[in-house]
Amino acid sequence: MQNNSIQVKGLQKSYKQLNVLKGVDFEVEKGSIFALLGSNGSGKTTIVKILTTLLKQDSGTAVVNGLDVLAKPANVRQSISLTGQFAAVDEILTGRENLIMIARLRHLSNPRQVADDLLNRFGLTDAAHRRASTYSGGMRRRLDIAMSLAGRSPIIFLDEPTTGLDPEARIEVWKMVRELATNGTTVFLTTQYLDEAEQLADQIAILHEGRIIVSGTLADLKKLFPPAQVEYIEKQPTLEDIFLAIIGKKEKN
Ligand SMILES: Nc1ncnc2c1ncn2[C@@H]1O[C@H](COP(=O)(O)OP(=O)(O)O)[C@@H](O)[C@H]1O
Ligand SMILES: [Mg+2]
Repeated sequence: MQNNSIQVKGLQKSYKQLNVLKGVDFEVEKGSIFALLGSNGSGKTTIVKILTTLLKQDSGTAVVNGLDVLAKPANVRQSISLTGQFAAVDEILTGRENLIMIARLRHLSNPRQVADDLLNRFGLTDAAHRRASTYSGGMRRRLDIAMSLAGRSPIIFLDEPTTGLDPEARIEVWKMVRELATNGTTVFLTTQYLDEAEQLADQIAILHEGRIIVSGTLADLKKLFPPAQVEYIEKQPTLEDIFLAIIGKKEKN
């Protein structure tokens, strides 16, 4: 029980006639990286919204940090942070100003210190005084995630954190996600990318047609689908390998 940050049972949700979630079950272990994998429109954001109290389920239960989302929404909100699919960064402000603003909104006692610590942690110190509009995609996403972390929550929700990013920026975000988990934060992320789940997640759950069709570690999932036959072929680098080799940033496995 205490080992789980999130427990979801029999979750159902429809938008009018559209039956999106038809009984979703899963659990997320404390301090782990959990990837909810599903194609566009499969209901990932709907689940994130229910877990972060932005939307109410029709039936089923969701417990976040030991708190039922329907019974204790305010307490749930205090124990989580959320980075949405679309960045909340204010383009006109500098990175530092964005962070100070969010720290003030959260009534943190030393907004400047909070901002400087986060800039440092996310490798944005050199860019602190530049307007966010001048940031690269990866920097902007890091700033966005840094903003959601002001105040330090035990659970972070990242809804498609790398959609629309170039390969280099994706790797920056992956690195940061790993750092979060290393520091004990539970990371719940959604993705449409198999390789992202493969690279990052301790646990993977695949959402398809309203249900979790498989879940487990990558090793568990691989056992479900053993290779049909052994073929001896030379492994060709992927386009991404080539691109990253050229620009000199190779992800370590
Ligand atoms: N507020 C809404 N009203 C009606 N339909 C919605 C609403 N939000 C999402 N949907 C639909 O529900 C389905 C799941 O959406 P969503 O949870 O955003 O999927 P995902 O995040 O996996 O792409 C989609 O078909 C989407 O069009
Ligand atoms: Mg979505």
